[in-house]
Amino acid sequence: MSDKERNIARAAAQYGVDDWGEGYFGINSDGHVAVRPSAGSTNELDLFEIVQGLVERDIAPPTVIRFTEILADRLAVMRGVFEQAISEHGYQGDHVHVYPIKVNQQRPVVEEVIRHGPKLSLGLEVGSKPELLAVTALTASDPVRLIVCNGFKDRAYLRGVVTATKLGREIVPVIEKPTELGDLLYESDRLQVRQPLGVRVRLSSPGAGRWEASLGDRSKFGLRVGEILELVDVLRVRGELDSFVLLHCHPGSQIEDIGRLKDAIGELAHLYCELVELGVGLRYIDVGGGLGVNYGGPHGSATASMNYSLEEYANEIVYRVGVICDDRGVAHPTIVTESGRASAAHQSVLVTQVLGAATPDEPGLETDSAFSVSAADEEPQPISDLRLALTLLDEGAFVEAYHDARQAREQVLSLFRLGYVDLQTRALGDRLFWTVCRRIVAESADDGDIPDELTELHDLLSSTYFCNFSLFQSVPDSWAVDQLFPIMPIHRLDEVPTVRAVLADLTCDSDGRICRFASGGEERSTLDVHAFRDGEPYYLGIFLVGAYQETLGAMHNLFGDNHVVHLHWHEQGGWWIDQFVPGDTIREVLTYSQYDTERFGPAISKDCERRVRDGTLTVAESREIRKYYAAELEGYTYLEPE
Ligand SMILES: Cc1ncc(COP(=O)(O)O)c(C=O)c1O
Repeated sequence: MSDKERNIARAAAQYGVDDWGEGYFGINSDGHVAVRPSAGSTNELDLFEIVQGLVERDIAPPTVIRFTEILADRLAVMRGVFEQAISEHGYQGDHVHVYPIKVNQQRPVVEEVIRHGPKLSLGLEVGSKPELLAVTALTASDPVRLIVCNGFKDRAYLRGVVTATKLGREIVPVIEKPTELGDLLYESDRLQVRQPLGVRVRLSSPGAGRWEASLGDRSKFGLRVGEILELVDVLRVRGELDSFVLLHCHPGSQIEDIGRLKDAIGELAHLYCELVELGVGLRYIDVGGGLGVNYGGPHGSATASMNYSLEEYANEIVYRVGVICDDRGVAHPTIVTESGRASAAHQSVLVTQVLGAATPDEPGLETDSAFSVSAADEEPQPISDLRLALTLLDEGAFVEAYHDARQAREQVLSLFRLGYVDLQTRALGDRLFWTVCRRIVAESADDGDIPDELTELHDLLSSTYFCNFSLFQSVPDSWAVDQLFPIMPIHRLDEVPTVRAVLADLTCDSDGRICRFASGGEERSTLDVHAFRDGEPYYLGIFLVGAYQETLGAMHNLFGDNHVVHLHWHEQGGWWIDQFVPGDTIREVLTYSQYDTERFGPAISKDCERRVRDGTLTVAESREIRKYYAAELEGYTYLEPE
């Protein structure tokens, strides 16, 4: 194995790409990230070359690159595992996967789902009026199998549902609170439609994952069992028990422990059977979302990993619903899944460019001629202790040296605060301390196995890599729920990374940094990166950002949406851009915040003219300023290379 191959193999393990990449991502022989349309495909694209190609087209990072075929493959894989489970368990019902558009509502994404609808038995899930209106319109000529409507509903929402039924959609509003039934019946009577409906049940099994409050007695949504019985009575009186077709629960998002899911499905299936026995015309059992994504972090971490596979998830649901129905002599229902994250996460990568690096800049004693390396006659004891710590390093006693140095430095600081040592001595203490630290990091890193005690030191001395993106806009869950995302350089992976870094975004918020990383199934506080070389682009990829991130992004510091490109594999090899969605311009983000940007030009012109009149600006300078203003308003909100 050549050095290059060894480095590439090491990078694959270091960044855990084979773990979280699910076969879609890997590293090619050039040391660049490779992207595949499906696991095992040999039709690889080179992510670094794609970024270079985009830059040539004036689409500079930060850019979200959305791989359309990966979304299609995720949906196909999802369908495949359920088909397999259905056949293995002799299940008599079918499976429909409804894509919850809240997870990524971008039109091209939803259109892609609709395109694959008939082949993959796909439907859509909406949770609000805007989502309903969009889906009703988008399915006008390409109907999907099923539309499930969740979320709290007013009359207008329900009117939209009934209207969609009139227009021929198979659409099921899920009653989330008791008053919605009366409103629905009012609208369906008025429009003379026999409207199928579903009910979300407030299961008492606890929810699971980071969003476990989705279930349980105090959950926000759903009807209690008593309320469901009241609803059944109302429908019975109207002779409409057959309208109640779907029973729904949503056990939470990013479920990391399959055990929790088993409880919820068991409770739901028993309830389903009871209701069928009461004469309700149920046909669908909807198990909601929650299927986890392996973000590459440690097992058992709700925002980083999961303890089961997609196959296990499908088997668990199909088997459990099947046996419970068999026990009760109830026909197998169609199983509806609403997995959003697991469908959408893998399709998108955010590529950001590192703009610069800050290293901890306390120089070591050896590099600073202002300080004597040799001991002076009468120096305070802590300074002598620091010198002693340096000699301990020669014996390999890193932990002891670190303890001694830390204590001695604190003593120097105390003496300074009390006025017993001068500034020179304090500075000498600092230099000695950092020299000890730097040597520990350099020499103990060579051992490969760093004692726990010293990990904090490695972090303390890590660099900060400044990246051209906004955490709040592009990976908000990293900030909001401590979500781990796989992050790695997209090139130079045939070189050994020599720097440990945390990532800082462009915002002026100290929270705008990433200092939690998944690395080979573990969590670390720094990312291994390559030395930053001035004048040479260095790109990092933040992976698995296709679910929720674009939707939840916020305009902190008025950094707007980033560029998005929808990319396709070319049949003959290579790639092509299907759609380019330019990121927000400065004018657009200002307009969102109610600025009347039309007034900016005249205001600046007037200001310039006044200064020309006063003689503080030349006419040429004034023209430059006005041109700058007009051009920048149409510019990208992120930093742009000149
Ligand atoms: C009702 C409902 N269904 C489905 C989903 C999608 O969940 P996930 O992305 O975890 O699969 C959600 C998300 O919160 C939801 O509220």
